[in-house]
Amino acid sequence: MSDPQLLQREIARRKTFAIISHPDAGKTTLTEKLLLYGGAIQLAGAVKAKRARAHAVSDYLEMERERGISIQSSVLQFPYKGRLLSLVDTPGHADFSEDTYRALMATDAAIMLLDSAKGVEAQTKKLFRVCKLRSMPIFSFVNKMDRPGRDPFELIGEVEEVLGIGVYPITWPISVRGQFKGVYHRLLRQVFLFQQVAHGAEMAPMQAHDLYAPELEQAVEEEGVKQLREDVELLDAAGDALDTGKLARGEVTPMFFGSALTNFGLPQLLDSFVEMMPAPAARPSDKGAITPDDERFTAFVFKIQANMDRAHRDRIAFVRVCSGRYERGMKVRHVRLDRDIRLTNPVQFLAQERTVVDDGFAGDIIGVFDPGIFLIGDTLTDGTNVKYAPLPQFPPEHFGRVVMVDPMKRKQLKKGLEQLAQEGSVQLFRPPEGREGEAILGAVGELQFDVVKHRLLNEYGADVRIERLSWNIARWVEGEPVPLAELESQLYGYGALDVHGQPVVLFKGDWQLETCAKAFPKTRFVELGAGALKLPTAD
Ligand code: G4P
Repeated sequence: MSDPQLLQREIARRKTFAIISHPDAGKTTLTEKLLLYGGAIQLAGAVKAKRARAHAVSDYLEMERERGISIQSSVLQFPYKGRLLSLVDTPGHADFSEDTYRALMATDAAIMLLDSAKGVEAQTKKLFRVCKLRSMPIFSFVNKMDRPGRDPFELIGEVEEVLGIGVYPITWPISVRGQFKGVYHRLLRQVFLFQQVAHGAEMAPMQAHDLYAPELEQAVEEEGVKQLREDVELLDAAGDALDTGKLARGEVTPMFFGSALTNFGLPQLLDSFVEMMPAPAARPSDKGAITPDDERFTAFVFKIQANMDRAHRDRIAFVRVCSGRYERGMKVRHVRLDRDIRLTNPVQFLAQERTVVDDGFAGDIIGVFDPGIFLIGDTLTDGTNVKYAPLPQFPPEHFGRVVMVDPMKRKQLKKGLEQLAQEGSVQLFRPPEGREGEAILGAVGELQFDVVKHRLLNEYGADVRIERLSWNIARWVEGEPVPLAELESQLYGYGALDVHGQPVVLFKGDWQLETCAKAFPKTRFVELGAGALKLPTAD
């Protein structure tokens, strides 16, 4: 049992979050700069990294994985002003997969990064929806302010309208004739003037001025000052103080403006983030909600990283600690297997380095070697048997049919597909009863198909081809049932069952989904599979 005060103190220090953004908005740059401000990487190193992109921290780790080194870091932990920040990586670009969504299940908050010229983009929307599912607090950073971008009022309007979240700007950009001059901090009532730093080599100067300081007029001219005062009046008239309850529930997002590349506006973001980010919320389990300061150690597996080779030995399970205290060498109960296990040499990730964990508290993410006993969603505990709610199945957008190259390996293929689907590497759909047909694979990102093909061959000896199918939407069926086996002949979509036997319909586009929804008005076609939508409510 742990000292309750120690638990409270340690939990309060921990801030576990992810950055959600569309590719190219500047996530790699922001990640690197957050590490820079956290003192986790050297200035010179950062500059070099920026010049040779292949060596930027996250790219470096990617290369490490490709070379087959056993652990690729999915979590970067760094200190900031007495807090311990854990940034959970959400791969974008070609790597985008279900792992990206699942990472958001392990965090307590997200920083939504927007390109000031582009606003809310497609991938941001998808990731936002997953955060929304957990009512997670979201902080917004509008990046690339050093370049011409969109009107900030217009951007706020877009976020509110497209994402359905209120916006509370904490910093506000000052521009003169389209040139970015700095930000006004509405809570501190101070102005920070922008100075271009060469290649982001130094932390940007942080000298603050008040709204009536002579330096301000000198820098932004009369026109800038006038505009700023008008904007501030407008903002103040628009809303009251930031509602922290709404922030905690993800109903309002504090917004910051700056430029990751030139290090501008980042301390303002980070300072507010560590101050305002609410403590980790209680998590639903089959025995009611479990709070982070519960003395029982509880944790769940949210990601399994296996190298794409035969050796199961270097498989790592990423575990999110949700309550209590983890101590090195302790025995924990693997609830699904109903047996005690010892977590040998769990590791944590401090910037680029791996360190063996001595203890861990709610918010921490640790990597444990997996001898093949973990599945995504498994609960570990040292208390009575509790089970965290299963992770949702996320909406796949790519579908494929598995075609056997060697028909003698039917059995191996079946086993392999089932295991890979259970592990969460890919989603598996089967035709409903009364219909013949093959197994269909569903993936959030195309890379998942390559992984599955590779693993089927190397781990199960089944050589397959994956033929792409033309569906691009999956919706789970809730409410009144639909005749799954008959949908296709009526052009309403393709009815199937997921790996848990839940009914799903696959569609070729929004038009087909709409037609089907009209034909079955008492049925709900929901975006996320069982689990997410059926979390037991807190007691
Ligand atoms: P991502 O991980 O979200 O895909 O974005 P990444 O950080 O790789 O940034 C995408 C591009 O945007 C990079 O340019 C990067 O330098 C640029 N960028 C990031 N933050 C800012 C900013 O605050 N201002 C400006 N002007 N640009 C920014 P690139 O040309 O693709 O790469 P590089 O040649 O600069 O390395």
